[in-house]
Amino acid sequence: MARVDYQVLLQDAMETARREPARGKPADYIPALAAADPEAFGMAIATVDGEVFGAGAWQQAFSVQSVSKLFTLALALAEGGEGLWRGVGREPSGNPFNSLVQLESEHGIPRNPFINAGALVVTDRLLELTGDAVGAVREFLRRESGNDAVVTDDAVAASEARHGHRNAAMAHFMASYGNLRNPVDSVLAHYYAHCAISASCRDLALAGLFLARHGLRTDGSRLLSRSEAKRINAVLLTCGTYDAAGEFAYRVGLPGKSGVGGGVLAVLPGRGAVCVWSPGLDAAGNSVLGVAALDALTTATGWSVF
Ligand code: DON
Repeated sequence: MARVDYQVLLQDAMETARREPARGKPADYIPALAAADPEAFGMAIATVDGEVFGAGAWQQAFSVQSVSKLFTLALALAEGGEGLWRGVGREPSGNPFNSLVQLESEHGIPRNPFINAGALVVTDRLLELTGDAVGAVREFLRRESGNDAVVTDDAVAASEARHGHRNAAMAHFMASYGNLRNPVDSVLAHYYAHCAISASCRDLALAGLFLARHGLRTDGSRLLSRSEAKRINAVLLTCGTYDAAGEFAYRVGLPGKSGVGGGVLAVLPGRGAVCVWSPGLDAAGNSVLGVAALDALTTATGWSVF
């Protein structure tokens, strides 16, 4: 079979995306992210055969934000099993990632693990299981990417903590329903810290490969069963890009997770993982150039789970 020239595919996808007139706006509700350059743009593919390709700023570290929620979910399931689902659902919310509206009528059980309320529950369980939720995520990213420079940016975590009134409100609200097992302040600190991890497209594509390998880590050991990996991919597809998950599935056709740092990590089961980064966001909090580049890449190649 002819060898795929991933490098050219990435460059073409980025070029197509750059033709979009819109650039979006970097997240400014976390002041430390507001100054990001909306023209910054990088993309990387890691294949299950062990190859990595990149274009643009693919080795530049950025704030992973909600992309970290994919890893907290995987680690919490690996450590604690299905009991996790008693405290968090698996349905799309149809609301923004930081919305509070469903929490009261649904008795403090968030719709899914990727909206902020759900991610706080997952962080709480991972903290209970490991004693160090942010350490567990950072260690996993380092090991899978082979990059020990993956660290938490303390200035970003502190910036979010100072302005994180909504997350604090949600955490206290869920605690009032008994859906947090650790003190609210500890859960918030670990949540902000794993969101504030800095990593590159290269690092995240490599770290996301366990989902393409049906649950196997880089060293061949098993993190999740094949069925658990399938299930995480399913929740990524339906909930990973919030109230734009339908549009993302329509345009990209892959399970994916976005973050307000501008990163998007998508998985092609059995083949590889692709990560794209550009800080300009649309109204749903997803990278404008990032989604456009994934759209162009998957349209050109036919890569899809469908
Ligand atoms: O809690 C927050 O609002 C941020 N730390 C993460 C939100 C996020 O990345 C949503 N993704 N698009």
